[in-house]
Amino acid sequence: MAGGGDLRVAGTLHLLLLLAAGLSRGAASWTEEKNHHQPAILNSSSLRQVVEGTHISEMWQNDLQPLLIERYPGSPGSYAARQHIMQRIQRLQADWVLEVDTFLSRTPYGYRTFSNIISTLNPTAKRHLVLACHYDSKYFPQWDNRMFVGATDSAVPCAMMLELARALDKQLLSLKNISDSRPSLSLQLIFFDGEEAFLHWSPQDSLYGSRHLAQKMASTPHPPGARGTNQLHSMDLLVLLDLLGAPNPTFPNFFPNTDRWFNRLQAIEHKLHELGFLKDHSLERTYFQNFGSGGIIQDDHIPFLRKGVPVLHLIPSPFPEVWHTMDDNEENLDEATIDNLNKIIQVFVLEYLHL
Ligand SMILES: *[C@@H]1O[C@H](CO)[C@@H](O)[C@H](O)[C@H]1NC(C)=O
Ligand SMILES: *[C@@H]1O[C@H](CO)[C@@H](O)[C@H](O)[C@H]1NC(C)=O
Ligand SMILES: [Zn+2]
Repeated sequence: MAGGGDLRVAGTLHLLLLLAAGLSRGAASWTEEKNHHQPAILNSSSLRQVVEGTHISEMWQNDLQPLLIERYPGSPGSYAARQHIMQRIQRLQADWVLEVDTFLSRTPYGYRTFSNIISTLNPTAKRHLVLACHYDSKYFPQWDNRMFVGATDSAVPCAMMLELARALDKQLLSLKNISDSRPSLSLQLIFFDGEEAFLHWSPQDSLYGSRHLAQKMASTPHPPGARGTNQLHSMDLLVLLDLLGAPNPTFPNFFPNTDRWFNRLQAIEHKLHELGFLKDHSLERTYFQNFGSGGIIQDDHIPFLRKGVPVLHLIPSPFPEVWHTMDDNEENLDEATIDNLNKIIQVFVLEYLHL
């Protein structure tokens, strides 16, 4: 009797162990796909199509100019910028699901309201490539009747994301069909609020939106109802765009674990140059060079980086000369650079998503 009992126990244990192994294998397999994900590299005729499909003048007028207003958290301009971003996305054909993440946070000026905008294609897809910018402008008291509109910081990056969604609308529409039965990959755009400090940059006075969202995503199961995986696992790669639009930017390579994606940006820049698709661009002064950063820059990626999300931080070093001055305005933007960056980033996204 005793022997039979032991066998039964052993048999049950064995079954439980098998089940446990199966479950953890199942959970691990999709969260690790990002580690060996490969791009589908575009040929010259596909590159030409991308270049012909993006229009800097449309972006300028329809996406960028409406953002060139004072838009610090809680201001009337912030509300207008949010409405603008959502309207530009809602009119597209691809099935973007928009979410506004509104919360209160204590600031040096008392409690303020912040609202991140999260725009997701295929919210139930397990994995997402994520592009992000911050749409708030830094609060400065007006002086000399001048207003801080943060053109590079970060109206241009947000406008570039809107132009990407417009230019790639048809291809993104086709993502809909990815079957639910295999791990699928889609795209998410995040427009953070409250990146800037109100007074002096500190862990408490900065990154209001990204700190809140990283916490919220970490505690939201993904796919819906999942145990053991959350929305942060759905982020294959967080590509953060910041301080873009000044001439001659150079981007450091910050993170060894996303090296191969930085290398794709380099390769795309070279290929587009070789094909004559970039304006005012020389190989002696490429944007994506392989120089180290000499340290991490505090920005909206930090709360995600700390929680293990792979990051590509597209911020120039040195910063634009106009950074945090009243001269960070439309006049000092370089149209050719922005157009070139649009092309490079759009190709990167198509290759990542195999479109
Ligand atoms: C380039 O790629 C596209 C899409 O994969 C394909 O349809 C086309 O035939 C290719 N063109 C050449 C010249 O290889
Ligand atoms: C994919 O979805 C689009 C839009 O719903 C539809 O027109 C198309 O026929 C679908 N393609 C496939 C291969 O299912
Ligand atoms: Zn700033």
